[in-house]
Amino acid sequence: MEIDRKMLNDVERTLISTEELRARIAELGERITVDYYGEDLMLVGVLKGAVMFMVDLARAINLPLEIDFMATSSYGASTHSSGVVRILKDLDRSIENKNILIVEDIVDTGLTLKYLKEILHDRNPKSVRVCALLNKQKARKADVDLDYVGFEIPDEFVVGYGLDYAEIYRNLPFVGVLKPEKYTSVGCRVSATADTP
Ligand code: IMP
Ligand code: MG
Repeated sequence: MEIDRKMLNDVERTLISTEELRARIAELGERITVDYYGEDLMLVGVLKGAVMFMVDLARAINLPLEIDFMATSSYGASTHSSGVVRILKDLDRSIENKNILIVEDIVDTGLTLKYLKEILHDRNPKSVRVCALLNKQKARKADVDLDYVGFEIPDEFVVGYGLDYAEIYRNLPFVGVLKPEKYTSVGCRVSATADTP
């Protein structure tokens, strides 16, 4: 299928191709299968960015597992650095004594993930680990351990394969760098408010 011209035109360059995504997710799935063999497992996807990754990763893991989703939003650009996030959708069921693997699209400052890990820890799971498709290590503000990482990427704004800018581009089948002129607010870090409604 040909990719929509308008979306393609807004992308400066491809960072990770569809084929690279497929191959790396297969590897992550194999590692997770080995690491959790004989254990229970619940994947917790963070909406909406992690949706594409979550479904492909789940199919690459050859174990019985549960899936659930959470949706979060930062309190807005001005208070973003506080790391306080609002829970828009919580998990459906208890995670007590379960092995939780948080599935994230991208870790940027790390503030969202740090908060999420803390609140899940408070619910007495057996373990909480993190699998992030993309990691922008250079942008990190909060110290947070990532157990599985798909790709280390530079500190640039990326879209596609679940990741959006202003809710668009999520259905691009690859990860690409968005042309800077597509950011509406000059001087404002779009990544900080990307998922804020
Ligand atoms: P953090 O709290 O700064 O780590 O923010 C993580 C969230 O911001 C991710 O889950 C994404 O939703 C969003 N985000 C960060 N960087 C990007 C990007 O380059 N493109 C799209 N969304 C991003
Ligand atoms: Mg996200």
